Amino acid sequence: MENIKAGILGTGFYVPDKILTNADIEKMVDTSDEWITTRTGIKERHIIDDKQTTSDLAVFASQNALKNAKVDVSEVDCIIFATITPDMPFPSTACILQDKIGAKTVCAFDVNAACCGFIYALTMAKSFVENDTFKKVLVVAADALSRITDWTDRTTCVLFGDGAGAVVVGRAIDNKRVILGSYLGADGSAWDLLNMPAGGAQSPATHKTIDERLHFLKMNGNSVFKLAVRAMTNAAETVLAKCNLKNKDVDLVIPHQANLRIINALAQRLNAPLEKVWINVTKYGNVSGASVPIAMAEADASGKLEDGQIVLLDAFGAGLTWASAIIRW
Ligand code: UT7
Repeated sequence: MENIKAGILGTGFYVPDKILTNADIEKMVDTSDEWITTRTGIKERHIIDDKQTTSDLAVFASQNALKNAKVDVSEVDCIIFATITPDMPFPSTACILQDKIGAKTVCAFDVNAACCGFIYALTMAKSFVENDTFKKVLVVAADALSRITDWTDRTTCVLFGDGAGAVVVGRAIDNKRVILGSYLGADGSAWDLLNMPAGGAQSPATHKTIDERLHFLKMNGNSVFKLAVRAMTNAAETVLAKCNLKNKDVDLVIPHQANLRIINALAQRLNAPLEKVWINVTKYGNVSGASVPIAMAEADASGKLEDGQIVLLDAFGAGLTWASAIIRW
C-alpha cells in the first residue's frame, strides 16, 4: 500500500468581537483583576454575540483555514467537529457546519473530548487520510463556553472564553507540516471533577434542575489543576518517545491554554524555555478544544515557524482526557 503521510494543509481561527475584561468581571462577582491575573494569567476573553452560536464561530475559522490551505470547500470529503457546546444535543454541529459553509454531503460528525477534542479529531483525520478513506478532512474545534458558564460562580466564570480554530488535513505537500504521531488517553474515573450535570439523559431539564443551576459547568479547579500538570507532562513525554524525539528537539510547544500557571509548570517539567511556548491564555482565557488550533493558527500566521521545526501539541480536559501530537513543520 502507498505510504501516505497526512499533513496540515492550512490553518485558521476566529474569535468573536466582544471582549470581557477582568474589570468587567469585577462588577459581576466578588473577584479582582489581581486575583485573576496572578492565579490564571488571564486578562480578557472574547464572548459570542447574542445572535451567534457555536457553528457560526466554526464557519469563520473553517473558511479561514480553507483559504489558507487554498482548498475549495467542494474538495472537503469529511468534517470532524470537536465541541462540548454543540448548537443543540443533536444533530451534530458538524452537520450544521456542513450546511452553513456549503460543503458537499460528506461524512460529518462531532467529537466530545473537551479541551482535548481538537487533538482527538486531528488524530482521526490523520488516520482517515493515511488509510485513504478521505482526501481532505476539515478539522474544527469551536466552543461557546460562555453559554454554559455560571456568571454568578466566581470560581469558574473568570476562566473561560469563546472561539474557534480549524485546520485542513490532507496528503502532506513536499513532506512539510507532517503529523508525525499522537497519543490519546482518558481516565473516566475522574469524570465528576469537571462536567455539566443536567441536560442529558441522566438529568433532563426540569424546573428543579434550572433552579439548582445544574445546566452550568461545574469544576473542582484545584484537583483538576494538579492532574493537568501531571497528565500533560506525561502526554508530552509519551508522544516524543513514540516519535523518537527528545525534549530538546522541540522548537515550539503549543499547550492547551487553561491557566498560565499550568503552562509554566509544564514548560519547567519539559525543560522548555518560555520563548518556545505559545501563550495566548492572557487574551482569550480557556477556549476548551479551540485553544490549541487557535494558537497553532496564530503561530502559523506569525511567520515564526520554519520548515522542519518540531511542534508539540499538548492538552488536558474534562473526562478526564489528555492528548498530544507532534507536527514536523
Ligand atoms: O481546561 C482544562 C480544565 N481546567 C483547568 O485546567 C483549570 C484548572 N484549575 C485552575 O486553573 C485553578 O485551580 C483555578 C484558577 C480554578 C483556581 O486556582 P487555585 O489556586 O487552585 O485556587 P483555589 O481553588 O484553591 O482557591 C483559592 C482561594 C479560595 O479561597 P479560600 O478558600 O482560600 O478562602 C477561593 O474561594 O481563592 C478563592 N477564589 C477566588 N477569589 C477571588 C476562587 N475563585 C476566586 C475568584 N476571585 N475568582
